[in-house]
Amino acid sequence: MTKLLLSIHVLAAILAVGPVAVAASMFPAAARRDPDPDRPALLVLHRVCRVYAVVGIVVPVFGLATASSLGVLGDAWLLVSIGLTAAAAAVLGLLVLPGQRDALASGAPVKRLAMHTGMFNLLWAVVTVLMIVRPGSTTGA
Ligand code: HEM
Repeated sequence: MTKLLLSIHVLAAILAVGPVAVAASMFPAAARRDPDPDRPALLVLHRVCRVYAVVGIVVPVFGLATASSLGVLGDAWLLVSIGLTAAAAAVLGLLVLPGQRDALASGAPVKRLAMHTGMFNLLWAVVTVLMIVRPGSTTGA
């Protein structure tokens, strides 16, 4: 059972978080493109980010299910991961997606958006490493 939950968790991380990371990273450059922003591309990139952000809810849901099945819900590495996942979700929902919306609606500058997107990607990278290294875990290598 744990293996099924973990497989869904990891598959969701690859299929949902991956596309958001790539599309969000491409957005600021497409918005800066001279002479005109590449609007159809921006619309698609924004849509990928929005849709896969929702699909990405599967990642923490199955992460929590995996953790309770393994009995590691109280482990420090997991609690830190949950906090960082929540922070990444907040950066995406409250800064990155609205920033893309503003750039689309009014051509607002994307400097801050590019910075927020970088923060978002960094948070995922840290969580992924934590998931693999599991510092302090006593449940295996
Ligand atoms: C609320 C957030 C999360 C929880 C509760 C959670 C929980 C877990 C648990 C319990 C495991 C199994 C570890 C083990 O085998 O002992 C795991 C593995 C894994 N998680 Fe998460 N996770 C969360 C978020 C994420 C995110 C955001 C990502 C990536 C973007 C991610 C990627 C992975 C990967 C790649 C593994 C496989 C690591 C391995 O088995 O070596 N997780 N997660």
